[in-house]
Amino acid sequence: MGIIMQARNITKVYKVGGIEVKALYNASFVLEEGTLTIILGPSGAGKSTLLNVIGGMDVPTYGSLEVEGVEVSRFTERELAKYRREKIGFVFQFYNLMPNLTALENVELATELKKNAKNPRSALASVGLAEREKNFPGQLSGGEQQRVAIARAVAKNPTILLCDEPTGALDYETGKEVLALLEKEAHEEHKTVVIVTHNSALSRFGDHLIKLKNGQIITDRQIKNPKPIEDIDW
Ligand SMILES: Nc1ncnc2c1ncn2[C@@H]1O[C@H](COP(=O)(O)OP(=O)(O)O)[C@@H](O)[C@H]1O
Ligand SMILES: [Mg+2]
Repeated sequence: MGIIMQARNITKVYKVGGIEVKALYNASFVLEEGTLTIILGPSGAGKSTLLNVIGGMDVPTYGSLEVEGVEVSRFTERELAKYRREKIGFVFQFYNLMPNLTALENVELATELKKNAKNPRSALASVGLAEREKNFPGQLSGGEQQRVAIARAVAKNPTILLCDEPTGALDYETGKEVLALLEKEAHEEHKTVVIVTHNSALSRFGDHLIKLKNGQIITDRQIKNPKPIEDIDW
């Protein structure tokens, strides 16, 4: 399996009212194709900052981010927009669906700007929602809305799928179903999947664990025998 991303000494400093907040400090790691990475850490550890930098939604203050051999940290705004559109799928904690579009229209909208996008109906079917395509988000449960959001992200056919606390608003069983879907994207569709969570029970779930604390990576290791989500309890 090839290396898809290499982060070197990424530091992110936010300046708020004259005060500097070091949200991320000297983060270096490698992500491999077709793997599931768990980024674990308490609230305020810098998880979202790291995910936003990886996803081209934010730029590092220092350091370098190389994706498929290309230096993303030097991209212009325009190149970053292209990077987000072509390479990245994003799944958020609160789904972020368009409330006035149906499930299918939400997925279609995401695929419109993408050349090698998947069929929106197939994407919805792959998350078990073929029958709900005409429903608006308000007519779907939280878990169903998150599945639409996953369909929307994967329909773009991104190289990297980034998920920020994707089960944070879901109940236990529904959360597990969503995690199983994301694992499938990594291991069957060969996407590079990154899941941010504060749930330490997930430290044995992925292939790769990165732990963050106070903006620094304190653990970075491959998981030799990852557990299927059915065998994990919290
Ligand atoms: N846009 C921002 N402006 C100022 N400070 C920020 C911003 N985003 C995050 N931070 C600060 O950076 C630190 C890490 O935040 P974040 O990445 O959101 O952590 P996590 O996702 O792990 O909870 C926190 O102290 C937070 O207050
Ligand atoms: Mg966060």
